[in-house]
Amino acid sequence: MISPEIINKLFDIASIEEVVGEYVMLKRAGANYKGLCPFHDDKSPSMSVSPSKGIFKCFSCGQGGNIFQFIMEHEGLSYPLAIKHLADKYNVPIEEGQIDVTELKEEARVKEGVYACLEFARKYFYERLNESQDGKVVYKPYLLERGIAQQTIDTFSIGLSGTQRTDLLDEGLKNGYGAQQLYDAGLVKKINDAEGVIPSNLRDTFIERIVFPIFSVSGKVLGFGGRIIKKDTKAPKYLNSPETVVYEKRKELYGLSVGKNDIRLKDRAFLVEGYMDVVSLNQSGVENVIAASGTAFTEEQARLIKRFTHNITMLFDGDVAGVNASLKHIKTLLAADLNVEVALFPPDEDPDSFIQKRGTSAFKEYVTEKSQNFIGLIAEVTLGNQKNDPIKKAETARSIAENIAALPDPLKRAAFINETANLLQIPERVLIDEVNKFKQENRKQKEQEQRREERIQEKQNSSDTSSSYNYVPEFTSFTTAEALLVDKKSYQEQDLLKTLILFADQEFDEEHSVAEYIFKELQEEEIWPVSKEFETVFKDAYAYLLEHKMLNELYFIRNPSTSKMAAGILSQRHKLSPGWEDNFEKIVKTEDDNYKHQVVQNLNYLKLNHIEILMKENQEKMKCAETEQEVLHCQQYHAVLQEIRKKITDEIGTVIL
Ligand code: UTP
Ligand code: MN
Repeated sequence: MISPEIINKLFDIASIEEVVGEYVMLKRAGANYKGLCPFHDDKSPSMSVSPSKGIFKCFSCGQGGNIFQFIMEHEGLSYPLAIKHLADKYNVPIEEGQIDVTELKEEARVKEGVYACLEFARKYFYERLNESQDGKVVYKPYLLERGIAQQTIDTFSIGLSGTQRTDLLDEGLKNGYGAQQLYDAGLVKKINDAEGVIPSNLRDTFIERIVFPIFSVSGKVLGFGGRIIKKDTKAPKYLNSPETVVYEKRKELYGLSVGKNDIRLKDRAFLVEGYMDVVSLNQSGVENVIAASGTAFTEEQARLIKRFTHNITMLFDGDVAGVNASLKHIKTLLAADLNVEVALFPPDEDPDSFIQKRGTSAFKEYVTEKSQNFIGLIAEVTLGNQKNDPIKKAETARSIAENIAALPDPLKRAAFINETANLLQIPERVLIDEVNKFKQENRKQKEQEQRREERIQEKQNSSDTSSSYNYVPEFTSFTTAEALLVDKKSYQEQDLLKTLILFADQEFDEEHSVAEYIFKELQEEEIWPVSKEFETVFKDAYAYLLEHKMLNELYFIRNPSTSKMAAGILSQRHKLSPGWEDNFEKIVKTEDDNYKHQVVQNLNYLKLNHIEILMKENQEKMKCAETEQEVLHCQQYHAVLQEIRKKITDEIGTVIL
């Protein structure tokens, strides 16, 4: 249990605009704020923040809720941990028993344990490189030989793994870390398929490797990349940590924690392929450098780098693999609205070898001279010097058009189309058509992906009863007809809840607010929601109303099981009107003068569903009736129910077949 005192205190002192403003640049828009949504790759501000309601809502990706949902989503925390996060931040003391520590501890413990293991491993590796015999005699000399100085080893905290099968495991256990923790941190692996994580079943992930710690932006160790230096081995040259609870590869960039200030200062990041490139350039005074370490550049990484700069120069090998890698990255970078340039290095050179051989100023000159945009790059690699070959020309134009289509900014698209037309001597009109074709294809693909995701989401929701409003019944325990009935019912219940959230404290008649009227009807007509999660939501709200003698949208915004839904519907209708930012406050009160009608309709549908269930039960009973008396009784009851049903359907104005 989490004490409501803490929650209410936090709602009082932590305003939604301040909590969100910590992560997102907010601009005033009437009574509200708007900003770029951090939960998807937002091109124009789709997120609205309403200080008066205490909610945020993205009209593009649908994320929404109160301060706690924002922190849960943004920091990847559970509800209790999000509360603790804000309590710590706003100096609200948490006393014993105010937050259920068992739940909190479990999640925090795993992550904290993993971070502790990783930091322990970093120190152990670092000391081994600098102090062990192996380190001093074999591995450190290798690095020095490759031109890596002690200061650079320190800056990047480069280390040496164990050389035996279980060096780190043994050392970890000796220092009080659990086998499970070391395993969760990706530092040890199982040697067979046996269940459970026990020391005899484990060996180190990194053996006989120089290790590069991978840091988060804020400098926490997340994992390692390890390079083997033995030549006579089939093992891969580089080995990376597996994904863990703290290391999601698609979200991290190697070198960012060290290079971020210089990236901001120079307003440009050099994107290279490998650990050694980052380390070596940094040592030579080129500090604004990052690597995606082995994986394709992702949307998340693009979003991350955009916090520091919008300008990227890719520095890749000039060999086939390097060119293909840069072409693969370009589209993601362009789609993220980053300005991308590429400088290819001579075959057999990478940024590390180049700068070591020729020095920093030659390196900088080379990069300046060779930098070109994606159009130049594609023309260079696809067209080469066959400028008059019509087939090659078409191929080049198509490949460029595909990349232009990824650009979100129409002005940039127009400018690049113009550039391509001039370069290839192809009419702009033709290029525009080609770009549009690709755009249409992209859109279709995106829609398909979205639909697929929605379907997955729906499935998850239906199996996760605690947070779902898209209640889909389990069909196993019902006949199909009954299931459909319950299904329909849950939609009616959901509609009623929406009406309740929107209009709870509006006047219904002289004696009742909307909330009071709804609960009076539910109680008197015995039509309480039957689907499990709605039943709890309604009963809780009713209890609150009885205790506090009032109920309004604030209750639903603050209640964790309804806040997301509340944020959604309290801001939903703006989506339809272009001036939603300015109308954010008004709609609830003005848009629907019809709310009393809506209340009556929602309740009628609920009644109707109950009647239909009663009729069904009665029919079953009639089938099993043993005496004439019983049959007659059922028939009479059926007539009564039919009568009531007719009255309700007349009122609803719908014919129910
Ligand atoms: P390279 O083979 O180009 O390595 O791989 P490098 O950075 O130039 O390193 P040195 O100079 O040989 O020491 C580039 C990147 O690709 C990933 C690593 O992230 C590496 O830094 N990679 C490469 C792997 O993940 N596994 C491999 O086996 C090889
Ligand atoms: Mn190299």
